Amino acid sequence: MRFSTSTLLALPLLAAAAQQKSPLDEAMGQLQTIFEKVAAFLPNIPNPNKQHPVDAANAATASAGGKTLHVLTLDSWKETVRSPVKAESTTPEEWFILVTGGNKTCFGHCGTVETAFNKSALLLAANPTAPHLGYLNCEDQPVLCNSWGAGPPALWVMEIKPEPAPVDIRIVGLNTTSTTAKTFTDLHALKTWKESPLYEGYFHPFDGPLAEYNLNVPLGYIFWVFAIVPSWMFMIAISFLSRSIMGNRMAPQPNRRPGAPAAAQVRALPSNDRA
Ligand SMILES: *[C@@H]1O[C@H](CO)[C@@H](O)[C@H](O)[C@H]1NC(C)=O
Ligand SMILES: *[C@@H]1O[C@H](CO)[C@@H](O)[C@H](O)[C@H]1NC(C)=O
Ligand SMILES: *[C@@H]1O[C@H](CO)[C@@H](O)[C@H](O)[C@H]1NC(C)=O
Repeated sequence: MRFSTSTLLALPLLAAAAQQKSPLDEAMGQLQTIFEKVAAFLPNIPNPNKQHPVDAANAATASAGGKTLHVLTLDSWKETVRSPVKAESTTPEEWFILVTGGNKTCFGHCGTVETAFNKSALLLAANPTAPHLGYLNCEDQPVLCNSWGAGPPALWVMEIKPEPAPVDIRIVGLNTTSTTAKTFTDLHALKTWKESPLYEGYFHPFDGPLAEYNLNVPLGYIFWVFAIVPSWMFMIAISFLSRSIMGNRMAPQPNRRPGAPAAAQVRALPSNDRA
């Protein structure tokens, strides 16, 4: 996760600001539209919310009788994962969501894991107790990944009950070299994912404090902007800033100069008294 102490310190402030909900929501909605428009306009900036066409890989899996791989996007992931949940159901719907990435977000190391996961969609199809399968690619969906605090490669296991029940999430780490389709079928058959601790971070996408105040997506955008704006741009901005501050300090300030020695004398007085 990419955030600094100062962002963390700002969180309570942001949270307080978010309590007057509707104007902030509106502003954030506008901000999101602006970000996406700018991103779509500039060819060098990747779209942070790339829509995933019904692609060949998925179609092939489906036609081979595999379980559907639901591709998650910023706009629709919540509806997608909630859609199989029936209002009266008491047992949670189980989701296996693969968090994966490409050259930028996973240093090109996610291929093995992704191939294995896609294959497991075929193997799990025959199993009536199989979990629902989700696919989240952080290269296409950086803002969604940031808003979850998710980093590839990992398997997010969600147990979803009807609202307003809390959602249990466990994150299972995946070995980039040794993961196979059997890793996933075993995880399901042996329920070994239950050994992972419950995810209780700030960024819990359903029940975390950031989700509660609708701050996770705006923060996701902020982290995304920091990640794509090149560091030299920050350097130039900081250098301009510090130069203008220095410039103000260096400029002659005739009104202040005479005051300075006086202040020093005042400070010296108490020690003279004691002596
Ligand atoms: C896995 O499936 C997803 C969703 O269908 C697809 O976008 C991706 O290219 C596939 N990856 C591999 C390595 O086959
Ligand atoms: C990822 O990196 C590999 C090796 O550097 C390269 O062959 C491949 O084309 C890259 N893929 C993308 C989508 O940029
Ligand atoms: C991943 O699996 C390989 C082969 O089993 C093993 O050598 C390696 O230590 C594992 N890596 C991690 C991080 O567990």
